[in-house]
Amino acid sequence: ERVRFLKLLVVSLVVAVSGADKFSRHDFPPGFVFGAGTSAYQVEGAADQDGRTPSIFDTFAHSGIMGGATGDIACDQYHKYKEDVQLMAETGLNAYRFSISWSRLIPNGRGSINPKGLQYYNNLISELISHGIQPHVTLHHVDLPQALEDEYGGWIDRKIVKDFTDYADVCFRMFGDRVQYWTTFNEANVFVLAGYDLGNMPPMHCSFPFGYDHNCSKGNSSTEPYLAAHNILLAHASAARLYKESYQDKQKGFIGFNLFSYWYIPFTNKTEDVIATQRANDFYVGWFAGPLVYGDYPDVMKRNVGSRLPSFTAHESKRIKGSIDFFGINFYNVLHVKDNPETLKMVPRDYNADTAVKLIFVQDNTSSSSFEFPVAPWALQGVLDYFKQTYGNPPIFIHENGQRTLRNATLEDWPRVKSLHGYIGALLDSVRNGSDVRGYFTWSFLDLFELLDGYNSGFGLYYVDLDDPELRRYPKLSARWYSHFLKGGSMGS
Ligand code: NOJ
Repeated sequence: ERVRFLKLLVVSLVVAVSGADKFSRHDFPPGFVFGAGTSAYQVEGAADQDGRTPSIFDTFAHSGIMGGATGDIACDQYHKYKEDVQLMAETGLNAYRFSISWSRLIPNGRGSINPKGLQYYNNLISELISHGIQPHVTLHHVDLPQALEDEYGGWIDRKIVKDFTDYADVCFRMFGDRVQYWTTFNEANVFVLAGYDLGNMPPMHCSFPFGYDHNCSKGNSSTEPYLAAHNILLAHASAARLYKESYQDKQKGFIGFNLFSYWYIPFTNKTEDVIATQRANDFYVGWFAGPLVYGDYPDVMKRNVGSRLPSFTAHESKRIKGSIDFFGINFYNVLHVKDNPETLKMVPRDYNADTAVKLIFVQDNTSSSSFEFPVAPWALQGVLDYFKQTYGNPPIFIHENGQRTLRNATLEDWPRVKSLHGYIGALLDSVRNGSDVRGYFTWSFLDLFELLDGYNSGFGLYYVDLDDPELRRYPKLSARWYSHFLKGGSMGS
């Protein structure tokens, strides 16, 4: 009897322990979507075809910053969208996150609609719908029409608010019968820092003296990131208001805003580093999330940045506050934060708007020595908890999460499989702990034209053979893992 009982005990313990690590998509709430993402310039190609004009992303790539790599052809999704949608359906994706190229839809940014551009997005969206895949659409993913940059300086001029709203209006009017999830901006925080401070992303403005790896005399790094961010928030609020007043009732959709978020960790447990970590969150996430949720910038930004930080009128603040139905979060990695009390000029220029933030970032050994990102499921949970506690548990989509591998490495992409497994499991715990997460998109569907890296690295579930004139797609191991999960498979430990 005792032996039988002990046996039973051992068996149930083993089941309990292994069961704890097993999960399937059926453990997620009904309606929770799983998808994959891309963005227009990174996959479409056909950059100068059918009436499209250049964006600031085209100009950036053509400056030679990535050794001549451009998105001129990329994955040629413009011509291969049917094949890609078929692949998405076979994989079992519930949703596809992509962006609209503003300068394909409205060449030069303003004025008449390009019928060929309109047709392309109508085709893509209808193809997705007919395969049962929800379109999640971003309006601005790094690719402002170059014409608007040339005409008045793009995001640093308030004129952009009207032009962006008019563009959004066209999208809501033309596609809103089928698109229910709109995101105005992708990674607004990265866009303004890399674009107007470091200058290592479009539109390559920078003015600091220590140099990145190109000419840094264009722009004013001490004011422009703040100005661009301010206009982005005003443009978002204006487009969101239009959506809510004129479209939402009928189209029953949702509008959100996307931010990149590290999980910041104090470098030591000294109080200064802990406070610096809060400052990192306020300066990089609160910069946008503060106005969107509470109607204003975080106090520490106002104090430290002073008059260089634009302010909202009471009317603007009212309009921005509550203008989102959800946050999109892009999460990849952790970063250690160290206090830096002096307003030193020699702040390492890795990811820093301003010496006003008074901190430095320190990469930990794992992340700096390996090309791949460390998989830190607890860090994603940290970010989700932070949003829950700081911003009143808003609805969230994980819009991006993924693993970087060398593009031509191997189809046996174990690091990506481990990353998917770790992060989706962690997400389930966060959902069970009350975070209001509605969906998860892995970045990316295909190996595409990577922002800072051209075609050297890949994040895709599918490899694209660039030497093949047909640009054929090949599933990696991660595509098979994800597909198994999406089809209800139980993912063991
Ligand atoms: C951020 C961006 O939204 C996307 O364009 C980029 O390719 C990925 N993350 C990976 O770096």
